[in-house]
Amino acid sequence: MSARCAIVTGATRGIGRRSAEALAERGFPVALCGRTASAVSAVADELTERYGVATYGQAVELRDLDAARRFVDAAREHLGPVAVLVNNAAELGPVGALHRVDPVAWAATLHLDVAVVAALSAACLPDMLDAGWGRIVNMAGGGVGGPSMAVGVSAYTTSKLAVCGLTEALGNELDGTGVVVVALAPGTIGTGFMAGAIDAAGFPGADRLRAMAEAQGQKTKAAELVGLPSYQTLSNWLAKYKVGTGWQGS
Ligand SMILES: NC(=O)c1ccc[n+]([C@@H]2O[C@H](COP(=O)([O-])OP(=O)(O)OC[C@H]3O[C@@H](n4cnc5c(N)ncnc54)[C@H](OP(=O)(O)O)[C@@H]3O)[C@@H](O)[C@H]2O)c1
Repeated sequence: MSARCAIVTGATRGIGRRSAEALAERGFPVALCGRTASAVSAVADELTERYGVATYGQAVELRDLDAARRFVDAAREHLGPVAVLVNNAAELGPVGALHRVDPVAWAATLHLDVAVVAALSAACLPDMLDAGWGRIVNMAGGGVGGPSMAVGVSAYTTSKLAVCGLTEALGNELDGTGVVVVALAPGTIGTGFMAGAIDAAGFPGADRLRAMAEAQGQKTKAAELVGLPSYQTLSNWLAKYKVGTGWQGS
């Protein structure tokens, strides 16, 4: 068993997958999850094969907070105490004007995108505090904090604003402990995450989202994620920020 591991949620594709790869590349044993069992084990096997690190993959519906905690416990059991947590899994949630979307779906998005982030952080923190070193990366996004917040995805933007608030509050709690929590807004990346919004018939924010995606040019292709400087330097991110939120490029 290795000394300490990294956990990446939602690592079956997109940004989470690339984050898991970046950590494996740097020698971290990696625990990863998603809801799709076949994809989870494929990524876990690939990381072990390519980087020679121990991996643990589990299919888990993170909305179930007990299951989320059991995933962390199992990761610890298989790979050792948790040193790094990348809270990546999230959903865009309902698309459309607030008065038209399903309030139950709206609340469910906040649950996955915020409450799960807090619960997983809480489950991992004892290991980090015991060791006096830990890194938690929370994925922000939605243009929150920037000049062009995404329109028509209010559950998502509200969630990401809350993630930034949680990051800052937790950062203050952790001051001086050696455990650092950051929020990262990776910018628009063509993982398919926003496809539902871009394709939604009559959705007023679609043109703006499409323009944001196209403005990223080459970088919007998921296959080229590996070439994004930000993902090549994940470990630098982990070391760089002391507290609070760090926006892309800052
Ligand atoms: N793409 C962008 O342009 C962009 C921009 C800013 C911020 N972000 C943020 O970056 C993160 C990743 O985005 P992405 O574009 O890489 O997303 P993605 O391609 O849709 O991947 C999402 C990952 O999360 C997993 N997942 C989703 N719901 C889950 C659940 N309930 N339980 C467990 N796993 C779940 C998915 O696997 P399964 O489907 O198998 O469960 C998948 O592995 C998100 O936090 C997103 O808000 C993305």
